[in-house]
Amino acid sequence: MIIVTGGSGKVGRACVRDLMEHGYKVASIDMVRPAGLSNPPKPTDVNFTRADITDFGEVMAAFSGINTRVEEAVTGVVHLGAIASPGEAADHVIFEVNTVSTYNVFEAARRLGIRNIVWASSETVYGIPYPGGPQYVPVDEEIELPQWSYSLSKLMGEKMAEQFARWDAQAKIVGLRFSNVQEPQDYANFPAYQKDPRSRHFNLWTYIDARDAAQAIRLSLESKLTGAHVFGIANSDGVMTQTNDELLDEVFPGTKRKRPLEPHESLISIEKAQRMLGYKPQFDWRKAK
Ligand SMILES: NC(=O)c1ccc[n+]([C@@H]2O[C@H](COP(=O)([O-])OP(=O)(O)OC[C@H]3O[C@@H](n4cnc5c(N)ncnc54)[C@H](O)[C@@H]3O)[C@@H](O)[C@H]2O)c1
Repeated sequence: MIIVTGGSGKVGRACVRDLMEHGYKVASIDMVRPAGLSNPPKPTDVNFTRADITDFGEVMAAFSGINTRVEEAVTGVVHLGAIASPGEAADHVIFEVNTVSTYNVFEAARRLGIRNIVWASSETVYGIPYPGGPQYVPVDEEIELPQWSYSLSKLMGEKMAEQFARWDAQAKIVGLRFSNVQEPQDYANFPAYQKDPRSRHFNLWTYIDARDAAQAIRLSLESKLTGAHVFGIANSDGVMTQTNDELLDEVFPGTKRKRPLEPHESLISIEKAQRMLGYKPQFDWRKAK
């Protein structure tokens, strides 16, 4: 049994579907009921608990209660519940909700002996919206340059993960720095981006298909790693038809290249995830119907 916080959200829906399609039993914890859940639930429905993950007692009760309702041990937690972007609440509220809920999830898992945790960090840790340009490209996991309370909350999550992993040498806590998440219907917007290089420069013209985000989550759950790890997760290509060098020269002139760039490769490095998780993005907006 895998617990998914935020299972009703954009990434959560794709993750729950992907895990169930790969034979996992899944319990979703969210404040919002999943769309299409039957009453009473069908055996094929996701197991759902409504809980506020900013409340430690609710997280403990939900995590431990699942074991009593479903006769299968919890073997992993996917933590996606959050205020998912800057501007969705006041800055201090975003910081508080995201850091406290991440602490609660890590701590409840530790107390319950769940040692397999995957959680959503964010591409914003690389320095979005890049005032003065990115430090170098492709941006990679070495960079920690949060510019907003939202990104700071994600960096705090990465730092907490390091400490929680230090307290238990057998624990695995994988943070995935997702690019901007796209669902299939979002690809209809991509042609319009081509008119203006500044339409998507805020995140270096990258994206992640929700289904590939789900793949990265599943591979992280299944990986034999221990300790705290962070991975950049994007699709292989960028959103623009202009080349990376043309885009950078126009919008961020003088940007340092760590190596010569492929014309349309993701400017978020996914090399570490490919090497250590076997991550292989399956979707490409250029081929979307
Ligand atoms: N969407 C993106 O472009 C993007 C990019 C990078 C990282 N992320 C991260 O990925 C994760 C998932 O993002 P998403 O796009 O699916 O967001 P979303 O807003 O679609 O889903 C978030 C879910 O969390 C739930 N939630 C929020 N606060 C909660 C609380 N206190 N208790 C219980 N549930 C709560 C919401 O009800 C929602 O269903 C988030 O951690 C987000 O920060 C998202």
